[in-house]
Amino acid sequence: RILGIIFDLDGVITDTAEFHYKAWQWLADREGLSFDRTVNEQLRGVSRRKSLEIILKGSNMEEERILRCMDDKNAYYQTLLEGISRQDILPGVEDLLKGIRRRGWKISLASASRNARFILEKLELISFFDGLSDGYSVVRPKPAPDVFIHAAGQLGLPVTQCIVVEDAEAGVKAALEGGMKTVGIGPENRVGAAHIRYDEPGLIALDDLQSLIPG
Ligand code: G6P
Ligand code: MG
Repeated sequence: RILGIIFDLDGVITDTAEFHYKAWQWLADREGLSFDRTVNEQLRGVSRRKSLEIILKGSNMEEERILRCMDDKNAYYQTLLEGISRQDILPGVEDLLKGIRRRGWKISLASASRNARFILEKLELISFFDGLSDGYSVVRPKPAPDVFIHAAGQLGLPVTQCIVVEDAEAGVKAALEGGMKTVGIGPENRVGAAHIRYDEPGLIALDDLQSLIPG
């Protein structure tokens, strides 16, 4: 049976959290908003707009300024992304992708990011992917299951044959909601709801994935 392995990007394939942090910090300083690493942790897997709302902590901002802040943060973030390369692939991930292909399974990306394609190209991993669903593909962000369902559709596989790999609480929730088997990357208190959990993506064993979907 052909399985579809659907990967989240940030925190699973590469660690862009630090770049997001630097960019939001730059914006927060400019706008006179308080922000730190603890708040940044809450932004894992969260859409760009929702991230800004979390940083605003309920204080009001005009719609026009919200849009400008999102654009400016992204422009800053993109200058940081210019510097990424194959060296920024998390350990073991490329071998994992190769192993999945050797089994004849399919690979798709499901990320909230609108920079996902650019990042996969910079990492020189784009050719591993049979499908790519990103921040442009669906309207409702995670924890809605839409981006994962979109990704399964791109692979032409039913959700029952797909396994999602996620590092964010919202992402695990979304995958479960979509009826998919879920692999959590990170601590128990963050991704403990997943069917199986590893501390790092490089530790994922293909036989474990196989046994999530027997038959
Ligand atoms: C991922 C990251 C989030 C980020 C979101 C949107 O889910 O984990 O931190 O806010 O993508 O990314 P973007 O590149 O479109 O701002
Ligand atoms: Mg993530």
